[in-house]
Amino acid sequence: MAAAASSAQPRDLFAPYKMGNFNLSHRVVLAPMTRCRAIDGIPGPALAEYYSQRTTPGGFLISEGTMICDTAAGFPHVPGIYTDDQVNAWKSVVDAVHAKGGIFFCQLWHVGRASHAVYQPGGSAPVSSTEVPVSERWRILMPDGSYGVYTKPRALRESEITEMVNHYRLAAVNAIRAGFDGIELHGAHGYLIDQFLKDGINKRSDRYGGSVGNRCSFLMEIVRAVVMAIGVDRVGVRISPAIDHLDAMDSNPLNLGLAVVERLNTLQLELGSRLSYLHVTQPRYTAYGQTESGRLGSEDEEARLIRTWRKAYQGTFICSGGFTRDLGMKAVADGDADLVSYGRLFISNPDLVLRFKINAPLKKYIRKTFYTQDPVVGYTDYPFLDQKQKLMSNL
Ligand SMILES: Cc1cc2nc3c(=O)[nH]c(=O)nc-3n(C[C@H](O)[C@H](O)[C@H](O)COP(=O)(O)O)c2cc1C
Repeated sequence: MAAAASSAQPRDLFAPYKMGNFNLSHRVVLAPMTRCRAIDGIPGPALAEYYSQRTTPGGFLISEGTMICDTAAGFPHVPGIYTDDQVNAWKSVVDAVHAKGGIFFCQLWHVGRASHAVYQPGGSAPVSSTEVPVSERWRILMPDGSYGVYTKPRALRESEITEMVNHYRLAAVNAIRAGFDGIELHGAHGYLIDQFLKDGINKRSDRYGGSVGNRCSFLMEIVRAVVMAIGVDRVGVRISPAIDHLDAMDSNPLNLGLAVVERLNTLQLELGSRLSYLHVTQPRYTAYGQTESGRLGSEDEEARLIRTWRKAYQGTFICSGGFTRDLGMKAVADGDADLVSYGRLFISNPDLVLRFKINAPLKKYIRKTFYTQDPVVGYTDYPFLDQKQKLMSNL
């Protein structure tokens, strides 16, 4: 297998990039972001408008976290990809992105214990690797907009883990049926897969707990299952070994990240082909921007972690978290990332790619509308640059 995917390609945020079979026209990626506008789990016209607004020809977009089964939700009005109605509804959203030449992956999500009985079928307990709830340091957004306490989960039995892997596989197949170009496995931010990866949560004594290898088993079984179902070049993986969101702490984040990277590399060698990418969230304190999230680590320490994983991973590497235009340009120029995913700046700047290109001023995002259900306000009503602003910007 050849050296890292980045070596032969120009290191410029605005230069094209070949990600497997996908020809990207630039490196500015829409980060996956939950927006709670898919009423009752069905993506409607508002989502088509939102994603279409953020599409550029040859641009790469990752969808919001999308439920793989009926126990997967921990936010109100998150879209699903496990019923025919959901799959059919996604088709219009995907078509809108494709009509503008975008490349669109669906992020497959199960929140695990980061849920509440109110989001579970029959009001039952959420499922996890553990029976320990998310601590009261964190609060869950309830359907009525208030904040509640996370419900105590029950630990999945081994046979149920096999079923869960199958839910991921079916969701991946459904995503392709809906027209998505690929899927991203959400293995980050304290949700179900991360609840298996981190030794601060996973105290299991079966083959899914204990050693770091065992803790990677759930993720790797899912990766294998989806790769076999839809093809290795349509699968991306997201992890955040150094982020303690929702108590997802590990005693050795560097090692955990390397363990995942090594296993992905081995799988790629075995298959003779690469995954689409590895997507890593930066642990930078300001990164996620949620006051409660992120570990207060030094910039040097963070850079060391990310660089170590980046160097070790044989393939396309996406970074996310607190990137500005300049930081993104620098990360790509320095070879620290092939692609950079932008979250909050993309919420409030639908034409972020153009604004970055011409170094135009950016619109500020309004946090209080991140998770509301209005199909327009705080969602599709952020302005595009007008002609005058374009001319006034530094070209
Ligand atoms: C409103 C909001 C929703 C998010 N939802 C998700 C999600 O569904 N899946 C995910 O992997 N990350 C999610 N994130 C994290 C983003 O993908 C991204 O990593 C984070 O915002 C840091 O990037 P930024 O500094 O450019 O915003 C979310 C972030 C925000 C602000």
